[in-house]
Amino acid sequence: MLDLKRQYRPLHQELLDAVGHVLEAQQFILGEPVAAFELAAAKQLGVAQAVGCSSGTDALWLALAAAGIDPGEAVITTPFSFFASTSAILRAGAKPVLADIEPITFNLDPVKVEAVLKTPRGAEVKAILPVHLFGQCADWTAFWHLSKEYGLKLIEDAAQAWGAEWQGVKAGALGDAAAFSFYPTKNLSAAGDAGMISTNSDDVAERARMLRQHGMRRRYHHDEVGWNARMDGLQGAILGVKLK
Ligand SMILES: Cc1ncc(COP(=O)(O)O)c(C=O)c1O
Repeated sequence: MLDLKRQYRPLHQELLDAVGHVLEAQQFILGEPVAAFELAAAKQLGVAQAVGCSSGTDALWLALAAAGIDPGEAVITTPFSFFASTSAILRAGAKPVLADIEPITFNLDPVKVEAVLKTPRGAEVKAILPVHLFGQCADWTAFWHLSKEYGLKLIEDAAQAWGAEWQGVKAGALGDAAAFSFYPTKNLSAAGDAGMISTNSDDVAERARMLRQHGMRRRYHHDEVGWNARMDGLQGAILGVKLK
């Protein structure tokens, strides 16, 4: 569907240098290239924190878990998205609740979300997870009002929306936490699987960092059950080149 080589050709020497640097350092998991990418990515998005991870799917799960969505709680999302928007909610132990989409943008419809919130099921809902589909932001003004009125968290599925903006604010800087995918066909792409969580909350970022490496804050001391969801050094180095 996409000619990925068109992007690779003008960048190939810079990419080879970046990959060579990781091979020389032999630091393959997280490490300096990932930390440097996280800092640069957070700056570009205008958020306090970015946490690199292994895929967009893991980023969604980490964003939900780190933002404090607990097992048994319900999260409203869209039925018109990639499967991971819903499966990540289940993976976090929460209950996905689907509300319909807008016929013009195909994004989650805030009016339909509010209709769900007004049913008896609405009492279980703790968060809304809109998807910025095809890089077009969901109606964030409406979702922000709903979050204030009903006391809900907002988690962005920004997997398809690197560089998108809603009223001058970047996708990834709108919600309590956001998830990006760097799957090779995405706007910003890795050379394999990679993802990222962005947030303005230091607490959410710290928790995501802990959960992405088996719940460890201190080496081999596991505070809770997390997962192996770390970003490879090679992907961090490649993303650092492409981010520019
Ligand atoms: C909207 C949406 N959410 C989540 C994902 C999952 O990302 P990944 O494939 O990196 O796990 C994707 C991409 O495939 C996506 O398009």
